Amino acid sequence: MLKLRMPTVETDRLILRPIQLDDDKDMYEYCSDDDVIKYLWFEKHDSVEFSRYVIEKLFLNRVELGVPEAYAIVIKSTNKMIGTIDVNAVHFNEVGVIGYVIHKDYWGKGIVSEALETLIPILFYYCGFYRLEINHCADNVGSKKVIEKAGFIQEGCFRKRKKERDGHRADYIYYGLCKDDEIVKERYGEEKYEKTIGKQIQS
Ligand SMILES: CC(C)(COP(=O)(O)OP(=O)(O)OC[C@H]1O[C@@H](n2cnc3c(N)ncnc32)[C@H](O)[C@@H]1OP(=O)(O)O)[C@@H](O)C(=O)NCCC(=O)NCCS
Repeated sequence: MLKLRMPTVETDRLILRPIQLDDDKDMYEYCSDDDVIKYLWFEKHDSVEFSRYVIEKLFLNRVELGVPEAYAIVIKSTNKMIGTIDVNAVHFNEVGVIGYVIHKDYWGKGIVSEALETLIPILFYYCGFYRLEINHCADNVGSKKVIEKAGFIQEGCFRKRKKERDGHRADYIYYGLCKDDEIVKERYGEEKYEKTIGKQIQS
């Protein structure tokens, strides 16, 4: 049985905590930016009220749907919520699909890498996932780098899978990571998790 209530954890620079309704203003800031939503599946947010609606309807019902709560990515020094990282779909009970987005002002500072490398062992050792999946538009160089840096193994390319906003059909690259992959044992081993992030979590 997967654990779906996500524990709040801290990294060097971040707090990862379940998203809440009053993240609406911060979410609107980044989801109303064309550059941020360029490769995402949803439309640009046109008001704080819409962001609030999205949080309520698409995020706060996750546990009921058998999906873990989504994390808000919060900058520890300012307590500002700048994005989300989450499992947005669960397949075959123990397979989770990861997604993420952050505010443009914070791109290229290692923030999503820090959040993803914290989330991966939590998903394996706390939540109980066996396999994690992730994908990116072939044109999304930033996401590709985040995924490869975290150690995901490239498994395939779905050609011309999605019509992008500029009208062209883009390839999507798919990756996976299994709990018993060598790279997982080396980089995200359970012992290491217990001594680091796991210490913050009461099971
Ligand atoms: C893609 C995204 C998540 C990257 O997050 P980030 O916090 O900026 O990424 P990081 O800083 O951890 O970057 C990891 C590496 O990728 C590089 N990188 C990040 N964005 C890059 C870009 N646009 N072009 C080239 N390299 C990039 C970083 O320099 C870093 O490289 P390094 O380890 O050699 O120093 C962020 O740009 C974003 O939120 N984009 C909009 C939403 C989105 O596309 N989500 C993903 C959908 S699949």
